[in-house]
Amino acid sequence: MEQLFQLSVSPGSGIEKIRNMGFSDKSKLTVQRKNQHLQIVLENDVLHRDSTMLEDVHLLHNALPELNLDDIELETEFFGKKLKAPLMITSMTGGADYAEKMNYGLAEAAEIHGIAFAVGSQRVMLHHPEVTSHFAVRRSIPDGVLLGNIGAVQLEEYPLEKIAGLVEQIEADGICVHLNPGQELMQAEGHRKFHGNVDMIARLNDRLEGRVLVKETGAGLSPQVLERLSAIGVRYIDVSGTGGTSWTKVESYRAQSKILRRAGKTFSNWGVPTAYSLINAREMLSDDICIIGSGGIENGLDSARALALGADIAGFARAILLAFMDNGVQGASDFIESNIYELKTAMLLTGSQRTGDLQKAPRIYTGKLLEWLKNSDSHLGDKG
Ligand SMILES: Cc1cc2nc3c(=O)[nH]c(=O)nc-3n(C[C@H](O)[C@H](O)[C@H](O)COP(=O)(O)O)c2cc1C
Repeated sequence: MEQLFQLSVSPGSGIEKIRNMGFSDKSKLTVQRKNQHLQIVLENDVLHRDSTMLEDVHLLHNALPELNLDDIELETEFFGKKLKAPLMITSMTGGADYAEKMNYGLAEAAEIHGIAFAVGSQRVMLHHPEVTSHFAVRRSIPDGVLLGNIGAVQLEEYPLEKIAGLVEQIEADGICVHLNPGQELMQAEGHRKFHGNVDMIARLNDRLEGRVLVKETGAGLSPQVLERLSAIGVRYIDVSGTGGTSWTKVESYRAQSKILRRAGKTFSNWGVPTAYSLINAREMLSDDICIIGSGGIENGLDSARALALGADIAGFARAILLAFMDNGVQGASDFIESNIYELKTAMLLTGSQRTGDLQKAPRIYTGKLLEWLKNSDSHLGDKG
């Protein structure tokens, strides 16, 4: 762990750079935390112990699809614009100098393939407008969907107008508000107060006329949370379920205190699996709510299964980050291209011409997912 911290203050690193930028102690801490997160995700096993449960969704092979590969239609609408494929790069980067490179690079890869891109937390911009350029990547994604990002807990800390301003400052189409109470509780400096989050999200959503996407950060959304978000008029919901990056686990690598290190490990598998969260979302939410299926999406078959369960869009963070770190924009672009090819393959092999057709594709549920569904005390069936 010591070594990790030393690495993040090496000459030329983000921390070294911001030391010379006159940041407040609070902002330095935010940037340092983002650097450590990135390093931990790249160098350690940060995955949940259990899977997304998407592998328990068996789409039935159709050997007579009566479709040509060219007939497959992936276009979809998102934030009032057309995506060429129903995919998005979910929020990751915010903070010091690596963020700038990553945001521009990932935005460029998204633009090449006509998919959506969300920047990471813009919290640091609230104190240091001089880092706006790290997030303002509109010129890399001129026609596509670009989204901002802020934590729900920050909505209590800053005036609503300041938060709403984050959208315009980077010429975004909307903003993602992330929910991460589990992660906060594993941080020594994290928030402990979550009362009032629902009201603040509702106010921001009204102020931005529905251009708010509420997401988890890899711990999933339960039926109760889906219901609350729907009740306050949120129109974009990313379940970001378990099976991919575990943020409680990431924090256990950072924790200095024994208590938090232990707690991070104890809760490293905590949350609602992506597949289960998606099935609930589709059953409970009305059709005009756009559902994003993310959390542990590694390839195009995962994307296809997420769409089959009811997602309108599939999203990925860690998997494309690894591809980007491996080979820059080309690596990220190749990852998206593979994902699209595999998604199209799954669509053809289930006889699904349009992405919406995947929802009707014959399938069998097995294993843990079936067990969860059987034992579910959710409101499946009460379509709102
Ligand atoms: C390095 C890294 C940084 C992240 N930073 C943010 C962030 O600033 N805001 C946010 O909403 N989510 C953030 N996330 C969470 C992802 O958007 C996503 O919800 C979560 O990692 C689960 O998806 P995955 O399994 O595909 O990684 C981050 C993820 C990674 C890997």
